[in-house]
Amino acid sequence: MSLSSKTQIALFGAGGIGRTHIDRITRSSNLNLAGIADPSDAAKAMAQSLNVPWFANHMDLLDSIQPQGAIVATPNSLHITQAVDCLERGVAALVEKPVADTVAEAQQLVDVQARTGVPVLVGHHRRHNPINRRARKIVQDGTLGRMVSANVMATFFKPDTYFDAAWRRSKGGGPILINLIHEIDMLRFLCGEITTVQALGSNAVRGFEVEDTAAAVLRFANGALGTVVLSDTATAPWCWDFCAAEQDQYPRQNVQSHFIAGTHGSLSLPDLQLWSYRGERSWYAEMTQEKTFVHKDDPYTMQLQHFAAVIAGAEAPLCSALDGLRTLQATLAVSEAASTGNTVQLPGAAA
Ligand SMILES: NC(=O)c1ccc[n+]([C@@H]2O[C@H](COP(=O)([O-])OP(=O)(O)OC[C@H]3O[C@@H](n4cnc5c(N)ncnc54)[C@H](O)[C@@H]3O)[C@@H](O)[C@H]2O)c1
Repeated sequence: MSLSSKTQIALFGAGGIGRTHIDRITRSSNLNLAGIADPSDAAKAMAQSLNVPWFANHMDLLDSIQPQGAIVATPNSLHITQAVDCLERGVAALVEKPVADTVAEAQQLVDVQARTGVPVLVGHHRRHNPINRRARKIVQDGTLGRMVSANVMATFFKPDTYFDAAWRRSKGGGPILINLIHEIDMLRFLCGEITTVQALGSNAVRGFEVEDTAAAVLRFANGALGTVVLSDTATAPWCWDFCAAEQDQYPRQNVQSHFIAGTHGSLSLPDLQLWSYRGERSWYAEMTQEKTFVHKDDPYTMQLQHFAAVIAGAEAPLCSALDGLRTLQATLAVSEAASTGNTVQLPGAAA
């Protein structure tokens, strides 16, 4: 494929996740890294080593190289400004999660997207994992019957050095917005809209301004209930990042993290084990256990290929700006419920 026929993608922010995107773009046959905007010396050196144009400022990049799409992988507070700058110039945006810091900012992106018609994909990459695509199909085709409950474990230990960056110890930088948001989006993807949130938070172990542990109780629009337990200070293997093995930096653990139960069956993830009764449904009867296999695929690669298809107009965004808003809204509701003790009703959720 010639360089000019490849989809031209720019990157804003060549930090941790930005480098993952660079890796996937440079390994693909149909995408070209058109340029990097990131004021850091490390990003400049990376652009030089890759022989791609470097800019300190995303506006200079947009004005100079007019990419077809841009990945916004900068700190959260920059997402909306930079994404809107893309849309106003007709450049599609893949915006990392959380889509914004606030629902009002996320609404601004939804509005600009609707006005310009330029596509936005929000970077909730787990939606692109074939395991979750299959799980969603199993839920939606009624195999589990009527959904009853969903339980999520997200327990892991972040080393002390992780907290050297001050923003990770301050409001908004904790595991609710950084990590829980992935669980909330996955639950919304698999189980539908969340309507009601209760939660508790604790900073008892690390003692930072932000929580180190949280527990949430959720009600879904379909009537099912859910729980999520989250901790970044727990020596425990039960989290998607370990058992789904999406990223090489985490050693693989052969456990499950997500459990969805319905009236006629239940499903654990990521192993896609399906439990049901062959005959009478009764706790006295033996249960049948079946395993569904899917071909593994890297969700970051799948996400970028989907982004190229969205840019080409061939596919609708699997995670729209509105999805990003609703996932943020539910995640912020966990934060609010944990800090106030109140039950939070989600106004934007579809009934
Ligand atoms: N989807 C995922 O799996 C995933 C994983 C990690 C992080 N993220 C998200 O990606 C974003 C970045 O996180 P990170 O861990 O890579 O952070 P990071 O701090 O490692 O990288 C951020 C980069 O942005 C650059 N930057 C700062 N100001 C800039 C500006 N004005 N213009 C361009 N570049 C600028 C910094 O120099 C840095 O290189 C966050 O929103 C985070 O929530 C997503």
